[in-house]
Amino acid sequence: MLRLDGRVVLITGLGQQDGKSNVWGIGAAIAVLFARQGGKVFGGNRSFASAMVTKNRIEKEGGVCDVMETDVTSSASVKTLVDACMKKHGRIDILVNNVGRSEPGCPATMSEEVWDSQVELNLKSVYLLCHHVLPIMEAQGSGAVVSIASIAGMRYIGKPQVGYSATKAAIMQFMKATAVIYAEKGVRLNTVVPGLMDTPYTKGMVARYVKDGGSEEFMKMRNQQVPMARMGDAWDVANAALFLCSDEAKYITGQKIVVDGGITSFTGKPLKL
Ligand SMILES: NC(=O)c1ccc[n+]([C@@H]2O[C@H](COP(=O)([O-])OP(=O)(O)OC[C@H]3O[C@@H](n4cnc5c(N)ncnc54)[C@H](OP(=O)(O)O)[C@@H]3O)[C@@H](O)[C@H]2O)c1
Repeated sequence: MLRLDGRVVLITGLGQQDGKSNVWGIGAAIAVLFARQGGKVFGGNRSFASAMVTKNRIEKEGGVCDVMETDVTSSASVKTLVDACMKKHGRIDILVNNVGRSEPGCPATMSEEVWDSQVELNLKSVYLLCHHVLPIMEAQGSGAVVSIASIAGMRYIGKPQVGYSATKAAIMQFMKATAVIYAEKGVRLNTVVPGLMDTPYTKGMVARYVKDGGSEEFMKMRNQQVPMARMGDAWDVANAALFLCSDEAKYITGQKIVVDGGITSFTGKPLKL
């Protein structure tokens, strides 16, 4: 079940700061899990050093992984990544669009510069990877693409981040529309929609969003927001991504799996009975 033997997996944002930490980034967890399932991972990441941490972890387990420094907002950089993967493996079976980041602000407080950077990093990156990879998958007659969105693209989740919310919502529709266009070509496109996860990125959010409170208070608040009373982790997201990229999901396209401990099923205001 859920094997990816011999499949070539192109993934963005697989870096990790620390090779010993048990708190995993989503891209790193996906790369490791897909390699454990037999996939040959080829990753592009902003920092080469942090991508090497993930590569070393995969190789230590006997898996296959190559990494490159890549800026997913640059078409030239993405093309270089895709070309290098093709040169090495001659095909791309799976594409995982993982890079994303939230910046605080409502339309009045967010600068135009931050707005543009949110669109570039979260949305244009998905377009660029698909732009360069989908023709390859079409020529192969097969492929699976998964993009990582966020429940912030479905609901207001308690903090102003309009650039993030809008771009993550756009990813879901981009994937749905493209899935229909590519359905007859043998290429499936689906989205994983994480809720509140505990990753290194979450820790970094404290500095951007919390004025006075510390990290512990912020994490406690996030746990309390979830009906399951705890954040999820990178592996919860990776497991959903693996299913969508596997043959077990061969009749699923244009869909999303929400991995959120129940938040989006909840109004957020329980009755006090
Ligand atoms: N964590 C959550 O609670 C949560 C919830 C919902 C959705 N998500 C989504 O899940 C995805 C992954 O989140 P995460 O928590 O795993 O984040 P993360 O730990 O910060 O990982 C992001 C990765 O993307 C890389 N990156 C950043 N900018 C890049 C660029 N321009 N080009 C190439 N690579 C770049 C980073 O590289 P460096 O190594 O250089 O830093 C890092 O390896 C994002 O799309 C995020 O929006 C996260």
